[in-house]
Amino acid sequence: MIVGKGFVDYWEKTVPWTFKKEKLSYRERRRRRYELQDYMLETIPFESYRGKLLLEIGSGGGIDSAEFGRNGADVVCLDFTKTGVNTTRDTLAEAGVRSSDVVRGAAESLPFRDAAFDCVYSFGVLHHIPEVGGVIDECSKILKKRGELILMLYNKDSLLYAYSILFLHRGEGLTEDEAISRYSERVEGCPYTKAYTKQDVRDLLSPGFGPVSMAVRYNVIDTPKERKVRAQLSDDYELGWHTIVRARASRRKPLAESGKGPNPHRKVRSGFAQLWTPSTKATLPQGVSLAPPHGKSNTLVQPISLNNDRRPDSTLPLCVPTWTLAAFLSSADFADLRTSSSAP
Ligand SMILES: C[S@@+](CC[C@H](N)C(=O)[O-])C[C@H]1O[C@@H](n2cnc3c(N)ncnc32)[C@H](O)[C@@H]1O
Repeated sequence: MIVGKGFVDYWEKTVPWTFKKEKLSYRERRRRRYELQDYMLETIPFESYRGKLLLEIGSGGGIDSAEFGRNGADVVCLDFTKTGVNTTRDTLAEAGVRSSDVVRGAAESLPFRDAAFDCVYSFGVLHHIPEVGGVIDECSKILKKRGELILMLYNKDSLLYAYSILFLHRGEGLTEDEAISRYSERVEGCPYTKAYTKQDVRDLLSPGFGPVSMAVRYNVIDTPKERKVRAQLSDDYELGWHTIVRARASRRKPLAESGKGPNPHRKVRSGFAQLWTPSTKATLPQGVSLAPPHGKSNTLVQPISLNNDRRPDSTLPLCVPTWTLAAFLSSADFADLRTSSSAP
């Protein structure tokens, strides 16, 4: 497995919701997160995994894992940064979540046995991974049959993508791929970000997952002065920045589960230890070798356009004219949402 050092270094400095400088309590961090991303508590089924085993990939500040744990799930968290691992551990301890384990490792090579988990959850992570198909494959392996995958991926058909990424940075000579990687996060210069249309999501998941449901939320834009300014817009337009994806693992039974696999005599271990594959430890490579440079597209950033992709499920007409967006932006419909120094 090769994980680029630049990736780990970037996230080491940038793990969101840690509020390092402010030294906020867990309660305060939790309050801030779910106030800013205010759709989460009603859209994400935190309470549905009591007694189930859930893996969070890219747990960062650990607040969502704590929410699953407080609602009775057994939680395993994985992040490739030291900061993410340490913060998640502290958060889980402070939130009183006992049934949990936190490991340092990479999504590209999950160190768990096949068919171990009831749910894999990953919020705001997979759109930062270039070789994401491999991660989806890993997820489908470690999920039980019909286990659930829940993701948050950035929505390409969004106001934020059209306005804050493409329109505001037109004329900088960047390709679309470069513009979104550079400007998608609070700290500029993320090594890789990709936004997904609904069709992109279906294509990504089709190898290992069954029917896919998606909900588009978080109607915000970044302006030149402020991040995450709220647009008073109905979710029905599906122009929000976050797509919440839910899908069930549909692949055939993994070989190991059927008894024909490579290790039917696996040593029986207890507790969380039994999740690990016998041969692996969650280790990061030294991080000296760089991941392959992410795909460079030849397209230069185009002037604002919302119809740059297929919109098969959209309730909007195929093309939203630029003037419609301009009208949104110049109207008084943007209410300030409290900005936070750690808002992602
Ligand atoms: C945008 S943050 C999201 C954190 C958390 N899920 C949240 O919603 O606050 C991305 C997190 O994923 C982690 N991450 C990014 N790429 C990863 C990878 N390939 N393997 C494991 N963790 C990764 C980063 O260290 C960071 O903590």
